[in-house]
Amino acid sequence: MNGLHHENGYLGKEPWWKDATFYQVYPASFKDSDGDGWGDIPGLISKIDYLHDLGVDVVWLSPVFESPQADMGYDVSDYQKIYAPYGTVEDVDALVEACHVRGMKLILDLVVNHTSIEHGWFKESRSSKTNPKRDWYIWKPARYNSEGQRIPPTNWRGYFAGPTWTWDEHTQEYYLHLYASEQPDLNWESEACREAIYDNTMRFWLERGVDGFRIDTVNKYSKRTEYVDASITDPSSTCQPAPEMWCNGPRIHEFIHEMRTKALEPYGAVSVGELSNTPHPSQVLPYVSSAARELDMVFEFSMIRLGTGGMFGPKYTYVPFTLPQMKAIVAKWQTFIEGTDGWTTVFCENHDNGRAVSRFGDCSTPELWQASAKTLALWQATLTGTLFLYQGQEIGMTNMPATWGIDKYKDVESLNFYAEAVASGDQKTIADTMHGLRILARDHSRIPFQWDDSPNAGFAEKGVKTWMQIHDEYRDINAAKQLVDQDSILNFYKRILQLRKKYKDLFVFGTFRLLQGEHKAIFSYVKESPHETSNSYPQTNGHSVNGHDGRKRAAVVVLNFSKDKQECLDVRDVFDCNDNDTIRLLVSTQHNEDDEGLTLGKNTSTPALQPWEGRVYVNF
Ligand code: GLC
Repeated sequence: MNGLHHENGYLGKEPWWKDATFYQVYPASFKDSDGDGWGDIPGLISKIDYLHDLGVDVVWLSPVFESPQADMGYDVSDYQKIYAPYGTVEDVDALVEACHVRGMKLILDLVVNHTSIEHGWFKESRSSKTNPKRDWYIWKPARYNSEGQRIPPTNWRGYFAGPTWTWDEHTQEYYLHLYASEQPDLNWESEACREAIYDNTMRFWLERGVDGFRIDTVNKYSKRTEYVDASITDPSSTCQPAPEMWCNGPRIHEFIHEMRTKALEPYGAVSVGELSNTPHPSQVLPYVSSAARELDMVFEFSMIRLGTGGMFGPKYTYVPFTLPQMKAIVAKWQTFIEGTDGWTTVFCENHDNGRAVSRFGDCSTPELWQASAKTLALWQATLTGTLFLYQGQEIGMTNMPATWGIDKYKDVESLNFYAEAVASGDQKTIADTMHGLRILARDHSRIPFQWDDSPNAGFAEKGVKTWMQIHDEYRDINAAKQLVDQDSILNFYKRILQLRKKYKDLFVFGTFRLLQGEHKAIFSYVKESPHETSNSYPQTNGHSVNGHDGRKRAAVVVLNFSKDKQECLDVRDVFDCNDNDTIRLLVSTQHNEDDEGLTLGKNTSTPALQPWEGRVYVNF
């Protein structure tokens, strides 16, 4: 069942990656094999069977390249070498092989908006104003204010707080960096630079057999070239949010199309790009329209940013949100591809966000934690698009304990935002920022994976000092415990990933229609097969298939996003049933497999939903 050996694509026409399940590995925290407290590629290889058994088709490996680790490897100093604590280039070859022999694939993280300041290209570029690689980065002269003080070329604020410009004493100019000062932006306006990127990064790894890339910060390669100040939206700061200056710029579609045709397509590489600051479907579609030949898929961030106070200054000032707000966002990004040649993705975790069960579920008791993690799983597995899971999501890993102080946070972004709050001298700002970090910080998803209940949670040998602290709860929440528990979150994931594949016309490719949009506790929707009904589904478990000929096959998904029992809508009514039609329960988060197939016959009302229960009913 697992892997890509099933008949490829939907009705044989769709590309393989649409119904594949991707799984992101954050390598520093997945599995340490050599006792340095830092995960590595051999450690990951030792867990490939675990991923295969889970139902993963594609491993997305976050950056493992040579790097001074100013931003956990998103600052690459050599694209063709591997950071020694992770292993070697040969280890990557072995990982490719380990995936391929199991019918799985491997994609790497392509970080080509910027390099590290330690990259040879940047060293050359900063060596003199006349160096041939000077224009591979973005250098600008200083400005001077009315007091004659030197100030940066523009007033833009970077992602990690502070200005987007750093002064270089040696050549007396500023260089641009949207992220940390150790991450100078490459200048995609230079054709020689673009060619070097294609060759040095993409072709090099595709030649070695990797299957594609998750492409970092993909919509920031083209900046507006006027380099003017952004309007002042934060009068308290000298730096202003300015995504309109450097995001989705004038040449972005030209660059991405060129990258695809020159470097990706010749290898049949799959691509999924990170598309922040782009909340309008009309802006997203050009990136993912298959006719445009740009990217196969993108990550659009409206849902995952829920609760943040905006991307820039107040990001970590937590803003509570309601379920209707969340549902509206999901509905928007589920339906935007309908009637188009575009495609979408499904995800609720990655290495840049807090844990889904802590943000969208309920961790107040062990029972609610388990129930809500399963309902989030069912939600994700029934949505249209390519599904991406993040390591630990499948066992319901939670945010770092609320008792942990800022000294346990390691991420450059968390530390810079916290330092900025401290510098404000305002106690409320400091407290609000810490509160926001406890929910949203990138650190939460980066602590070591909890494999078992041994010291260091099976991530590293006993006695090893791990690079981030192991979660206090590792004895209760770990993969070994869940592997042997039929009711575990992990086993539920296995089951629904198979169901997602088996009924992919509904779950992967189906249309989406939101029900009860204003309901504050229930998330319910209809998934409908894009094709006319036939009774071609395999009949399982001896249940009769009530094909409802002439109707499309459909599923009604009802998810209780609350800790209270909730009346359920009348599912028979949603299906518009005739008296003779039988509606079947395909799956409930609170039943094990044996109870599946319960039917809702004529005159049967739909039972109430238990706290955080999720169910899927089908009309076949
Ligand atoms: C992306 C990565 C993030 C990184 C940033 C800069 O957003 O996901 O982790 O800090 O790019 O490369």
